[in-house]
Amino acid sequence: MKIQIINGPNLNLLGKREPGIYGSEGFETFFEELKAKYSQIELSYYQSNVEGEIINKLHEVGFEFDGIIINAGAYTHTSVAIADAVAGIKTPVIEVHISNVYAREEFRHHSMMAKNCKGIITGFGLKSYELGLLSFMG
Ligand code: DQA
Repeated sequence: MKIQIINGPNLNLLGKREPGIYGSEGFETFFEELKAKYSQIELSYYQSNVEGEIINKLHEVGFEFDGIIINAGAYTHTSVAIADAVAGIKTPVIEVHISNVYAREEFRHHSMMAKNCKGIITGFGLKSYELGLLSFMG
């Protein structure tokens, strides 16, 4: 089974960025642990701060992989283009967030892409990604 994780803008700063909200672990360390724990799954990771690059990655894997776990960061709330890309591909997409977006500012309560996703996981820290992964497993 091939699963792609995609992180959007500012998520390259995980571990350093607002640790009170996003924790103090960097994503690379977490990803290595996740890969070791679920070694039966072909897990790939991609991060970009650029909207178009996120769209290109969705197109690249979206007809081939078995699942996509995306944290589009702030683009979640603003990007019609990423929402359209999620709607246009074949691979099911799970939207994840580290923080509980519903416990934060009003502008974080709306996701442009949510209606095109299989499900949403929000508020479990980095564990949100693991829960996303489990949702693709039998
Ligand atoms: C986030 C929540 C977004 O509102 C924010 O813009 C992020 C991170 C999260 O993982 O909690 O960059 O997606």
